Amino acid sequence: MFKSSTTVVPETPKVPRHIAIIMDGNGRWATKRFLPRVAGHVKGVEAVRGVVEHCVERGVEYLTLFAFSSENWRRPAEEVSLLMRLFVTALEREVSKMHANNIRLKVVGDLSRFDPKLQELIAAAERRTANNSRLTVTVCANYGGRWDIMQATSKMVAAHPGAQEFTEDMLAPHLAMAYAPEPDLFIRTGGEERISNFLLWQLAYSELYFTQTFWPDFTPESLDEAIASYQQRERRFGQTGEQVAKKTN
Ligand code: IPE
Ligand code: IPE
Ligand code: MG
Repeated sequence: MFKSSTTVVPETPKVPRHIAIIMDGNGRWATKRFLPRVAGHVKGVEAVRGVVEHCVERGVEYLTLFAFSSENWRRPAEEVSLLMRLFVTALEREVSKMHANNIRLKVVGDLSRFDPKLQELIAAAERRTANNSRLTVTVCANYGGRWDIMQATSKMVAAHPGAQEFTEDMLAPHLAMAYAPEPDLFIRTGGEERISNFLLWQLAYSELYFTQTFWPDFTPESLDEAIASYQQRERRFGQTGEQVAKKTN
């Protein structure tokens, strides 16, 4: 179990140990080119490949990607089903490569709403890559931060029958990403500056980075820029700047 940033003052790694990304702007990328929105999603998958490879090179240990939110079901049915098909193809095509590169794949979210075939594909990919250790790539699918907190709360209550009081430490193991430390760096592409119900609990002390770049245009160099920005930040976790300086000097 990783320590929570509100329970202890965590280490601040030079290269973020965990990067979480809202990959936004696929639709606008396509529309700008008079292409159907789905063309942006297809191109977005290619951007994922580049970023995964670059995370391996930079020594990032956890990469978390928001692929489909619990609110994305509100989109037109054809876009939703195209996204699902794309997810299936991407899984079929990429998992062997990830496995060969020692990458562990996790998919978190309320998967019960997905086609059983897709659920099986996900479970098989997770099983196959479970012991890989170079990088953990988590795809958040039908994920919502509120869903996560609620499902964890239900499990916590069930695990402590009769308890009247609960602590963070009792909740944390039930969160969908309990296997990962909290993100050091959060990135949102596409120009919007909001969290859109992503990792609400886990982003408590993450450094936030927003860029206008649409996700399909996000390259390894763009990732380096985000990491460089992160490296300029002073992460204080509630302390004073003087306290932080004393600790690192
Ligand atoms: C992000 O791109 C991908 C998903 C939400 C699946 P969008 O599809 O939201 O692209 P924009 O924001 O409409 O440009
Ligand atoms: C957030 O993007 C979800 C994903 C990238 C998967 P949205 O495009 O759905 O967010 P809003 O609707 O602009 O807030
Ligand atoms: Mg969007």
